[in-house]
Amino acid sequence: MDRIIIYGSCYGTAKIYAEALAEKINVEAVPYDRVSGLEGYETIIYLGGLYAGGVRGMAKTVKKIPTDTCRRLIVITVGLADPEDEKNIRNIRNTAGKQIPETLRARTEFYHLRGGIDYQKLNLMHRTMMKLLYEQVKKQPPEQQDEETRALIETYGKKVDFVDLKRLEDIAEKLGKEAEAPVPCAEIRAMKKTEYPLLKEFLYEAIYVPEGAVPPDRSSLETPELQVYLSGFGESESDCAVAAEVRGKIIGAAWARIMNDYGHIDDETPSIAISVYKEYRGQGIGKKLLLSLLSALQDKGVRRVSLSVQKANPAGRLYQRIGFTTVKETEEEYIMARSLFMSVNGKEYKIRNLLGRGKGGYS
Ligand SMILES: Cc1cc2nc3c(=O)[nH]c(=O)nc-3n(C[C@H](O)[C@H](O)[C@H](O)COP(=O)(O)O)c2cc1C
Repeated sequence: MDRIIIYGSCYGTAKIYAEALAEKINVEAVPYDRVSGLEGYETIIYLGGLYAGGVRGMAKTVKKIPTDTCRRLIVITVGLADPEDEKNIRNIRNTAGKQIPETLRARTEFYHLRGGIDYQKLNLMHRTMMKLLYEQVKKQPPEQQDEETRALIETYGKKVDFVDLKRLEDIAEKLGKEAEAPVPCAEIRAMKKTEYPLLKEFLYEAIYVPEGAVPPDRSSLETPELQVYLSGFGESESDCAVAAEVRGKIIGAAWARIMNDYGHIDDETPSIAISVYKEYRGQGIGKKLLLSLLSALQDKGVRRVSLSVQKANPAGRLYQRIGFTTVKETEEEYIMARSLFMSVNGKEYKIRNLLGRGKGGYS
């Protein structure tokens, strides 16, 4: 599988990390301003210094990434503020995430490293920027300072070096493992009754967490709003579930039941829930799961299905492509529905091609 490391570095710390990572995982490291075609790279690793929250050179680079061939974008940021601090991580992901087009964001993983600074070496523009920032924040009482501000105040005017190449080991391991064993195609099949307890884990994965937001506590799965998806699953006629399996492990699931959830539209229409583990997203597994579930429901005679999706969730477009249309909306969500049968001259026919709205005829 083809991979490349691209880096954006002004004063060398991101470059040191990029070259060390390149050696560890045996991949070429190229500065962003020397990158031309990126076709054919399935994994692109972007490593760059943080400048006012943005990642140096990344906005220019992502424009060159073909979204049909790149399956995984790894963004590794190098900054002064503590990369273990949760609020700092959230801020970085929020700002850096905005530099990445939505189509790629779902396939993006973030890692954070600490760099360094030498005020003697800053160019005039950077020195002026830092001076203005410092003047602005230095009067803030310590209890109001966030990690970024603290790091700026503590290091202002100095030379500091927090580069720690040991931090690359964890990242290299995660990247290396994938290279050794490429992900085989997922097998999509009916879910066995004995596997239904796994739905709890998949429900947790199905909760949409916007970039930078903190995932909800697992205890939320016990609330009545979420228990409707799980409690006694398999006991009712309408319950139906399919699974995606890779190397003997279930990595995704889609399930349906008539339930009073966010996507409920009436008492005959099952609502759908679907999720795929993060590392397997962006490979079309969600679409296959959904089509397989729709086909299974159609075989059971289900005429229509519905679901709810947060407006900010890119999965909404997948549902649209599969023929779901919005039937209701709230401030945050779309409630979408999809017919599985069509009526011709008073007779009911199965929609044969479930991909798209009724395209491909009926039988
Ligand atoms: C003008 C300027 C803005 C910066 N903004 C941030 C920032 O928003 N967050 C952060 O953690 N570090 C920030 N830094 C620190 C750099 O990210 C840090 O020095 C990094 O190691 C630079 O990478 P490089 O040496 O590869 O250019 C900033 C530094 C400068 C000079």
